Amino acid sequence: MLAFTARDDTEVDKTSTRSGLRAVTELDSGVRVRQMGDADLERVLGLRSIVRWSADPRAFGLLRGVRDARWAVAEAPDGDLAGMVGAVPLGDIGILCHLAVHDGYRGIGLGALLSSWAVAYLRSRGAKTVRLYSTLRAEGLYQSLGFEGVTPRTVYRLEEGHRKLRVPGQVEGHRVETLTFGDLPELYGVDHWSYGADRSALLFATLRLHPGRGLVARDSTGRIKGYLIRSTMARATRIGPFLASTPDVARLLLASALSTTGGAPVQVTVPGPAPCHAHSLLQEFGFEGTEDRMRMELGEKTATCRTGLVHYGTTPYLAT
Ligand SMILES: CC(C)(COP(=O)(O)OP(=O)(O)OC[C@H]1O[C@@H](n2cnc3c(N)ncnc32)[C@H](O)[C@@H]1OP(=O)(O)O)[C@@H](O)C(=O)NCCC(=O)NCCS
Repeated sequence: MLAFTARDDTEVDKTSTRSGLRAVTELDSGVRVRQMGDADLERVLGLRSIVRWSADPRAFGLLRGVRDARWAVAEAPDGDLAGMVGAVPLGDIGILCHLAVHDGYRGIGLGALLSSWAVAYLRSRGAKTVRLYSTLRAEGLYQSLGFEGVTPRTVYRLEEGHRKLRVPGQVEGHRVETLTFGDLPELYGVDHWSYGADRSALLFATLRLHPGRGLVARDSTGRIKGYLIRSTMARATRIGPFLASTPDVARLLLASALSTTGGAPVQVTVPGPAPCHAHSLLQEFGFEGTEDRMRMELGEKTATCRTGLVHYGTTPYLAT
């Protein structure tokens, strides 16, 4: 397997035993992986459009602002930008994202080299598990690096006119309010307990981009029992992160969120794995799901059944 030292400027371990070693030697003499700098940003945009990422263009900027997130680029000897990758540490879990290799440089081990850079960086930041959502095309590459498939995520869409109107139900003693920045310290604790890693920087960045677009459900004692954040991308509303203690609380939050979206399409990405009631709740409201990218993990296995709030929707910018 390819291995990087855990330094930010990245060096290839020449003892690599992966069959791609020849390519690594070539890459070592030619294409160089290094940390992304501000001067690369314009060219990175070009690379992103080549691989046709459909994600919100704000995602990259938002993730670059997340504490300790790092990015690498692969640069050819002529200065051409050949690829890129992102690494977002969230404590025990680290997220590998935005891996892309330019058409002309594929199949020579660059995807593996960039992924190894991200894995090494995330491990150096204390990640016990590295997680990603893989395209079909990249699954083999990640498997060759030791990643294992967990479960695919499901993208649910509620199209205009397909909405099954529901009156927001009542859950005894519970109330739904707008999520404010003052709720965040408590929310960070609840989210950490439920997710198993520290997503505070990501949650803060998402709410800062969409102030007033979060909802929080509290029980009669005032404890947080669920929350969600809405964002608008390309005329569609995305709901996520979306967590709740019970299906009734989730229903309460979702009905409240949908009552403010007008007729526009709504999208919720249910993480893989998620309990079946997360799927049935969305179907109840008229959402239709499509199986999407595979969650893959490297390192310590994360619990599929955690205590805390249940995950109904991933964050919109990092899909975790
Ligand atoms: C997925 C992607 C990043 C792969 O990049 P890449 O540089 O071609 O990746 P690699 O060269 O390391 O590996 C690709 C394949 O070439 C093979 N390979 C690598 N070096 C090789 C060599 N020297 N000789 C022969 N085959 C080689 C790998 O084994 C791998 O095979 P597999 O797909 O059957 O597993 C690239 O296709 C891409 O940018 N796709 C679009 C965006 C995308 O899907 N990103 C992934 C997000 S999760």
